[in-house]
Amino acid sequence: MPLRPYIVGNWKMHGTRAMLSEARAIDRAAQRHMKVEVAIAPPYTLIHPVHREAEQIVVGAQDCHDQESGAHTGEVSAPMLADAGAKFVILGHSERRQGHGENDALVRDKAQAAFNAGLRVIMCCGETEKTRDAGRAVAHVKKQLKASLPEGIEDAAEKLTVAYEPIWAIGTGKTATTDDIAEMHGEIRKLLITLFGEEAGSEIRILYGGSVKPENAGEILSVTDVGGALVGGASLTADSFMGIALAAGETEEG
Ligand code: PGA
Repeated sequence: MPLRPYIVGNWKMHGTRAMLSEARAIDRAAQRHMKVEVAIAPPYTLIHPVHREAEQIVVGAQDCHDQESGAHTGEVSAPMLADAGAKFVILGHSERRQGHGENDALVRDKAQAAFNAGLRVIMCCGETEKTRDAGRAVAHVKKQLKASLPEGIEDAAEKLTVAYEPIWAIGTGKTATTDDIAEMHGEIRKLLITLFGEEAGSEIRILYGGSVKPENAGEILSVTDVGGALVGGASLTADSFMGIALAAGETEEG
C-alpha cells in the first residue's frame, strides 16, 4: 500500500518559543487531515517542546553530526535528537552542502548515524541553475543522491524519504515545471528501484521542495512520483502550511 502523502515543514533558522503556538495550530489542523502525514523540523531548541505538545504531527531535525558523541563543540548528534523526541532528520539540504561545505561522503556518514539512532532520514538532492542550463540536472542529481545514501538500508521505504529540491527554486518563488518535476522524480524512482529493489524502491516517497505554497501545491503534488513536499517559507504559519496539506489530501482523494 502506498504511504500517505508526506508534508514536511523545514523551519530553518526561524522560531523562538513564541512559535510554539503555530506548531500547536498545525498539530490541531493535522488531526483533521489524517490522510496526510504532517511533520515539522524546527530549530534544535524547539524539538523537545514541540515533541512534548504534539499529538499528531511528527517532529524532526534539520541536520545531525556523523558521530554519536565526542569533542565537537557546537554539534548535535543523532542519539541526542532521538532523545529530544525527533523521529527524523533532514540531511544534505543545499544550505548545508553549499553553506557548510558538506560533501556527499559526509552526508552519507550522517545518514548512517541517523539510522543507527533509529531516526528516519529525508535525503535532499538538487541541482544549481547552471547545471540545469547545461542539461546536466538529471545526471547530477542521480550521482549526488547515490553517493549520499548509505548502502544496504533495511526497510528503506519506512526509513528513507528523498527530497528533490532544485537549488534555484529554494526561497526564490520560482518552481520547476511539472514536466521537469515528473522527469526528475521518474529518474530518481528508477535509481531507488535499482538500489533497493522493486518493492521498496517503488514505495519510498520522493518529495518536491522549492517555493511550494498553497497556490501551487495541488498542481505539484498531482505529478506522478511526487509523494509530498518539503516546505520552507510557507511552513512558518499554520494557515499556509496546512493549505499545502489540504491540497495533498485532495490529491489523495482524486
Ligand atoms: P522554500 O524552502 O519552500 O522556502 O523554497 C524549501 C526548502 O529549502 O526546503
